Formats: sequence, structure tokens, C-alpha cells
Amino acid sequence: MKKKLVILISGSGSNLQAFIDATQQGRLDADIALVISNKPGVKGLERAEAANLPTAVLEHQTFPDRPAFDHALMALIDRHQPDAIILAGFMRILTAEFVSHYSGKLFNIHPSLLPSYPGLHTHRRALENQDREAGASVHFVVPELDAGPLIIQARVPILPGDNENTLASRVLVQEHIIYPMAIQWFLENRLRLTHNGAELDGTVLPPHGFTHTG
Ligand code: GRF
Repeated sequence: MKKKLVILISGSGSNLQAFIDATQQGRLDADIALVISNKPGVKGLERAEAANLPTAVLEHQTFPDRPAFDHALMALIDRHQPDAIILAGFMRILTAEFVSHYSGKLFNIHPSLLPSYPGLHTHRRALENQDREAGASVHFVVPELDAGPLIIQARVPILPGDNENTLASRVLVQEHIIYPMAIQWFLENRLRLTHNGAELDGTVLPPHGFTHTG
């Protein structure tokens, strides 16, 4: 049977689109069972609907607290018994209970070369620091924000005249390549989370993960 993904979004959903394209083009051997957004009316929901994918909106403001929202989210996800849960621009901090419930099959992409710049405004901070390189990181999710074992990083140059938008676009192109690629490794049982870190083909990956050069 085909492997199943649930994808969580909050906005534009360009990474979701990369997963849709990869499944349609056979680069990712999986079905997207459900797309969940914590915000109504976002572009990512339009992308899901255009691809005839089931969607759900779960507005976090309608819950009394973070655990209540996460419980509802878990109930929604677990109905589909997904093989992997993909955070794709999902702008919510998740409870430790949620994260451990999906330990080893919960993934995130972050627009920086982690461990540099966890949190928000990554590109702004890289430009302010006059870094010469930026990038994106796919990682297993652990309770601490943006801190899980790294699976793959894509590096891009920071060019003279770059601003947050030009840099974000250059990084996004790479995000759309590395995220479905990492998930395909996982679905092929090549990638797993161990207590030594992320392991690919039986070997523990280096601390920064596999490096993809565009
Ligand atoms: C991406 O830059 C991703 O790395 C970060 O949020 C952004 C989401 O973009 N986590 P999109 O919604 O996939 O277009």
C-alpha cells in the first residue's frame, strides 16, 4: 500500500506544492492524505484544493490553550494513520506531548543553516550579519524549537544587493528540492531517527546532515 503523508501549513504552501508536484511526478511515492491549516483562507489551502486533496482548518484561536489545540490536531491526524507528518511552514510551537506522539516521523524545514538562526527572520539576520551563505535545513522534530537532528541542508550564496525577498526566493527553490527528497528516503526506510541522531543507509549523518549543493 502507498505510504501516507499529512501536511501541516499556515500560509503560502509553496513547500506543500513541492510535495504535490513530487507525488504527481513520481519522485515521491506517497499519497497526501490530508492538508491541515491553522489559518483559514491561506494560499496553501487553495493549492491543496486545486490538487483535489482533502483539507481541514483547525483554528488555534478557538481552543482554550496549546494542549487543547494539539490534542485536537492529533485526533485529526491519527484518523489517517499517516507514515509521516510534514510541517511545511506551520507557524505553531508544538507541545512535547505532540512531538513525542509522532517521534521519528515528524519533520520540519527551516530556512537557515541550523544550528544558526533558529526561530523567525532568518534571512534578515543572515543579511545583518553579512554572512556569505544561507540555506535551509530539513530535520526530525524534537520538543526544543528548530533543534532536532539534521537530515539535509541546502546551501546558497548570499549575493551583493540581496534583500530578504531575493534571498528567501533563492532558498525556497532549494527547500522545494530537499524536503520531498528527504521524505522519500524516509519512506524507502533509508532514513531513521536513532538516539545517535539521524541515520541514512545505516550510517549516522554528520551534525549538519547531508549537504545538497544546487
Ligand atoms: C519556508 O521558508 C519554510 O522553510 C519555513 O516557512 C516557510 C514556508 O513557506 N518553515 P511555504 O508556506 O512553504 O511557501
